[in-house]
Amino acid sequence: GLKRIRTVAALREQVKAWRLAGERIGLVPTMGALHAGHIALVEAARARADRVIASVFVNPTQFGPNEDFSRYPRTLEADMEKLAAAGADAVYTPDVAGMYADGFATTITVGGPALGLETDFRATHFAGVATVVCKLFTQTAPDVAFFGEKDYQQLQVVKRMARDLDLPVEVVGVPTIREADGLALSSRNVYLSTEERVVAPALHRALLQAAADIASGITPAIATSRARDVVAEAGFVVDYIEARNAETLAPLGVGEIEPIRLLAAAKLGRTRLIDNIPVSSH
Ligand code: PAJ
Repeated sequence: GLKRIRTVAALREQVKAWRLAGERIGLVPTMGALHAGHIALVEAARARADRVIASVFVNPTQFGPNEDFSRYPRTLEADMEKLAAAGADAVYTPDVAGMYADGFATTITVGGPALGLETDFRATHFAGVATVVCKLFTQTAPDVAFFGEKDYQQLQVVKRMARDLDLPVEVVGVPTIREADGLALSSRNVYLSTEERVVAPALHRALLQAAADIASGITPAIATSRARDVVAEAGFVVDYIEARNAETLAPLGVGEIEPIRLLAAAKLGRTRLIDNIPVSSH
């Protein structure tokens, strides 16, 4: 059965018992409102660890003042049923006061892959993510932790932090789970109206078209510029659609052969969607 753990002390006690039994611990950090994308992380964790802990914590520090922290969907009962069905061993549900004690004053500063893209529109977002993920890592001390490629910049930021701070955890990326029409699953998709839901897959379609254009020899600058036009025409307000180095997320070098990732963020009404895909064989 799924065990619910609410405090760091109880978490450490459970992990210690499993570790004494020689078991390998996998961590899946989430903010809840779980869907098949999150469950794919749990399944990846089960394949690589003996015990799987999912955390559910809507982290206030990664939301900007005008973002959706207060209306973010909270569905813990349903989340726990999904985690139990997926074979997770424990769900860790700290509260805000437990995570951020009175006078909390320490934040991880992130550079490298955190520069640009999301950071141009959500300036303090990755500082909030890195700090809470670092805390989850030191609280849990997992052998391995799983993050979705859906949040590709976040995945690279977390990998970089683990390396830079010598955190003894392997960070594993899991491919994006999509609806049949290509829309990446997201807890925020519940915000979309019926009309917006019909338009939403245009973002993924534009990325696919840009990747095909680049593979056929069109420059990334022109291909992404076209994608921005197409997505705006479909009714989005585009934050960015960019081609970046897939590992460093730095802007592409001129005439260099390097792995390319296309990354996008755009608003449809009040809902902000993000997506990304690799560019193959260019
Ligand atoms: P959340 O948005 O709940 O996502 C939790 C994890 O699920 C992330 O690693 C995310 O990339 C992954 N995920 C979301 N949608 C996915 C999809 N369609 N396919 C595959 N994986 C998907 O990301 C966060 O929470 C937070 O920033 C967190 C890391 C928990 C720190 O607060």
